[in-house]
Amino acid sequence: MITLVLGTRPEIIKFSPVIRAAEAATIDYCVIHTGQHYSFEMDQVFFAELDLPAPTFNLDVGSGTHAVQTGAIMAGVERVLMEKNCSEVLVQGDTNTVLAGALAAKKLQIRVGHVEAGLRSFDRTMPEEINRVVADHIADHLFAPTETSRSNLLAEGIADDTITVTGNTIVDALYQNREIAEEKCSTLQAMGLESRDYLLATFHRAENVDNQVRLAGVLEGLARVHADTGLPVIVPVHPRTAKMIDQFNLDPKGVTLVPPQGFLEFLQLEAEAALVLTDSGGVQEETCILKVPCVTLRENTERPETITVGANLLAGTDPARIEQAAAMMLGRTRDWVNPFGDGKAGERILQVCTAELER
Ligand code: UD1
Ligand code: UDP
Repeated sequence: MITLVLGTRPEIIKFSPVIRAAEAATIDYCVIHTGQHYSFEMDQVFFAELDLPAPTFNLDVGSGTHAVQTGAIMAGVERVLMEKNCSEVLVQGDTNTVLAGALAAKKLQIRVGHVEAGLRSFDRTMPEEINRVVADHIADHLFAPTETSRSNLLAEGIADDTITVTGNTIVDALYQNREIAEEKCSTLQAMGLESRDYLLATFHRAENVDNQVRLAGVLEGLARVHADTGLPVIVPVHPRTAKMIDQFNLDPKGVTLVPPQGFLEFLQLEAEAALVLTDSGGVQEETCILKVPCVTLRENTERPETITVGANLLAGTDPARIEQAAAMMLGRTRDWVNPFGDGKAGERILQVCTAELER
């Protein structure tokens, strides 16, 4: 049996094509939800909108410091794996769920497959970079989304025959849900927005929102972009960001704060935006695929393909740089080519796993 371990918003979304493919091919699989994300709008909404079966197990781990959360996930995943006859555990991305799921499985000598392997920001102050590096170095199957990520793995001495370049499953998720979003939602209408006549922004990275100067810088940058363009700036607020805006007593101006959106609603907001500003990994990829210009509110990115093709610009959190980058990217012609694959990554990943099962 193949066990998928997931626990956060991006993992549910990016694993959805793998789950759909496993269902379609009647592959024996189960899902362990760690409960790292648990608020309705960070969790259940995606199972409902993406029509996914309920997770087989839910560990209900919740929030905590890195060690507390990682330790609790490890103990919970180990408990389930010891009861089940599981031959491969799949993890996706770079969260604490990934680190803990991969470690727990590997120590039980169960094969580990890392989906979205080989991404590197080369910034080890980011918790996500630590999680990715560890997961990559203990995994048996490395599913790299691009040749760039494959090269990163080879440069670290990882064996070539363990790496498969699959594309990123987010392409599959976008292709599978774009039309469904159009059929089911009228998000722009509901928010009183016109196509290409608004900006969309998301930010939640610990290094940005847990730091008062950087968070205030992002908010000031967005306020200036709003003043420069006269366009509404829609900000679906991650719970971590909401907590820190409150804690630092900040009063965001010139932006429209809205709750975290469902995937279908967010997809519509992204696809029709004049420009997206973000510190999210997934949103950098999605804007690139949807041909919407992006400004990244970070000093580095583990998605350099988006910069190379001209879809994305790094701006950090300094208000003047954000303003400048937004002006540049608003004038960008949307003529780049999607570097993240053809939308069949989910099937490729399962092919590798099932071929191994049959050996
Ligand atoms: C985590 C990941 C990050 C990923 C993000 C996706 C790690 C180290 N970080 O960050 O890489 O980009 O998920 O969104 O794994 N909270 C809620 N409800 C929830 C979840 C969180 O209110 O459902 C609040 C809690 O106050 C919590 C805080 O958000 O303390 C942070 O949650 P946590 O899961 O620790 O990290 P994220 O910032 O969500
Ligand atoms: N997303 C969403 N609703 C929102 C914001 C983001 O559905 O209000 C989706 C987005 O389309 C992408 C994923 O969440 O697929 C990105 O998650 P997040 O930014 O939380 O994490 P990261 O990708 O940075 O790890």
